[in-house]
Amino acid sequence: MGYLRAVIENMVGYVPGEQPSSKDIYIKLNTNENPYPPSPRVIQTLKDEINSSLRLYPDPLANPLRDKAAKVYGLQRENLLAGNGSDELLSIIVRAFIGKGDLVVYPTPTYTLYDTLIDIQEGIKETVEYPEDYSLPSEIGKKEARLTFLANPNSPSGTCIPVTEIEGLAAKLKGVLVVDEAYGDFGQASAIPLIKKYNNLIILRSFSKSFSLAGLRIGLAFADEEIINGLLKVKDSYNLNRLSIAAAIAALDDLGWMQQNIGRIVQTRKKVTLALTKLGFYVFPSESNFILARLPGQDLFSLYEWLKSQGILVRYFTQPRLQDCIRITIGTEAEMAQLIEKLEKMLPI
Ligand SMILES: Cc1ncc(COP(=O)(O)O)c(C=O)c1O
Repeated sequence: MGYLRAVIENMVGYVPGEQPSSKDIYIKLNTNENPYPPSPRVIQTLKDEINSSLRLYPDPLANPLRDKAAKVYGLQRENLLAGNGSDELLSIIVRAFIGKGDLVVYPTPTYTLYDTLIDIQEGIKETVEYPEDYSLPSEIGKKEARLTFLANPNSPSGTCIPVTEIEGLAAKLKGVLVVDEAYGDFGQASAIPLIKKYNNLIILRSFSKSFSLAGLRIGLAFADEEIINGLLKVKDSYNLNRLSIAAAIAALDDLGWMQQNIGRIVQTRKKVTLALTKLGFYVFPSESNFILARLPGQDLFSLYEWLKSQGILVRYFTQPRLQDCIRITIGTEAEMAQLIEKLEKMLPI
């Protein structure tokens, strides 16, 4: 008998995408980071913030950031919670809503961190397979779950469910619907405005992707005040550090920079989609900063390994349904040109 809870002893734990120690040797297209740097205003703010005030704790509620985000998204501070990445917000949510035996429902394949967080709480996972086209499965919403997760845009498919369908789901569910919009800035419409209408809805946003700030760990949750007040009780006292709070405010002060980068990524995504389609891949329609490319019936592990040997890291997933796919983050034009050049040499495999 070990010291750990049996559930922890027996679980595998979440395995994040590979982070090679030397970034220079790889074109890194495996964890959906933004290839462009953060706003110069963010960099300047960080420099300014590195001073003696670092000896002091940060604002425990990250209120300056909540106020800034409230203005940007047309809400109240009370509708917002800041997190150390949206991963922390997911963790806070699962701890706040799920105890042993409580039901959580979500469509798969999706972000596998949900599995781990539910296992830690000894909740019950009930997953529903997405159909081939990754449209919303009709079974979602039929069970009385305490929590329902929907990554939208979804990862690893990159596909998006229209906001009207999200609204339909929120209206139908008795429990809470969490819409994980980590890639929301790359998609069309956001479900954030719906929180004014549905008090069982939580929307999550990340600064890791569109704002190029994965290294600082910043996320936001949007929900009805009552839910936010509950989540505030669960979070660590000082979950966001001073630098992250200041950087997030600066990033929201320069939305144009982020939008310009999104414009470039979307253009590159279109080009890469076309090039991969010409090479025989099926590319799922993406509203994200990555694409899922499929060669039906072929296990692409060897292609993933070959690309790695050539200095290009993409993501391969071992779930049977995803074995004939690779997920590719959209990098710069030059990085993607190199990827296509390599693939042209290798294919057909
Ligand atoms: C669907 C989804 N949600 C949440 C996250 C976590 O993002 P963050 O860096 O804000 O913790 C990721 C990261 O890849 C993701 O793919």
